[in-house]
Amino acid sequence: MSDTRVLREEDPEAARLLGEGWTVVAESWGARLRDPDPQRLRALVDVATLAGYDVRELERHELGAVAGLEAVTAGDYPRTPATDVPARTRAVLEAMDARFVGAWAGDVLAAVTAVEPGEGLVETSFTSVHPEHRRRGLAAAVKAASVLVMLPGGARVFGTGGAAVNAGSLAMNARVGYLVEERWLSLRAPAARPADDAAGGSTGLAKAPRRGPSDF
Ligand SMILES: CC(C)(COP(=O)(O)OP(=O)(O)OC[C@H]1O[C@@H](n2cnc3c(N)ncnc32)[C@H](O)[C@@H]1OP(=O)(O)O)[C@@H](O)C(=O)NCCC(=O)NCCS
Repeated sequence: MSDTRVLREEDPEAARLLGEGWTVVAESWGARLRDPDPQRLRALVDVATLAGYDVRELERHELGAVAGLEAVTAGDYPRTPATDVPARTRAVLEAMDARFVGAWAGDVLAAVTAVEPGEGLVETSFTSVHPEHRRRGLAAAVKAASVLVMLPGGARVFGTGGAAVNAGSLAMNARVGYLVEERWLSLRAPAARPADDAAGGSTGLAKAPRRGPSDF
């Protein structure tokens, strides 16, 4: 059995494991945006547009720029057993069933978000902003624009999530209107050895069951 488990915080199994000496090694959350207000979303996009950014849906031939931005920001995503961050090469991005929305500063891609239709909701796959363009409302702008892109197809429920330590992610999603509906605990068995962590092995991220939030 895996020595890392990801459980809803109210799950009685979590209380049982904590009672057995398991420890919380990370916390994460899942949020929903239901029946969004397009006007509120457009106002968030306008913040970026008025600052000179071109916010729009990206075309397939622009995915190379997304891969480039993800290579720059990869180290900034918090990693927890519930928030896996795969390498996002161009080939990986092209294989995704996603729509991408970006914010351009001239010919530089400053921000991107990707959304994928799931069962009954549209999930954010990831969001990132180039370090030189942060704290200007770009994450909120591209996330708002990604919701606007999906509305004409009939989507009304949107999901996102992330690591509790990621204050920026929580704040940007709150700004778009997402409400946290789920909290998850990543629990580690008392016997877990540090060497396992270093190897990303039996306690590693790749093997953890993916039942927590998916964001980004
Ligand atoms: C998280 C991230 C996307 C935020 O991008 P950003 O463009 O700087 O965010 P915005 O400017 O749109 O900010 C939106 C809100 O978040 C807040 N915020 C942004 N970064 C923050 C941080 N590091 N700490 C606290 N609050 C932060 C802003 O103050 C703003 O709050 P407000 O609405 O109360 O004014 C960016 O820091 C990033 O790319 N991080 C690495 C990748 C990552 O973690 N992605 C999300 C994974 S869940």
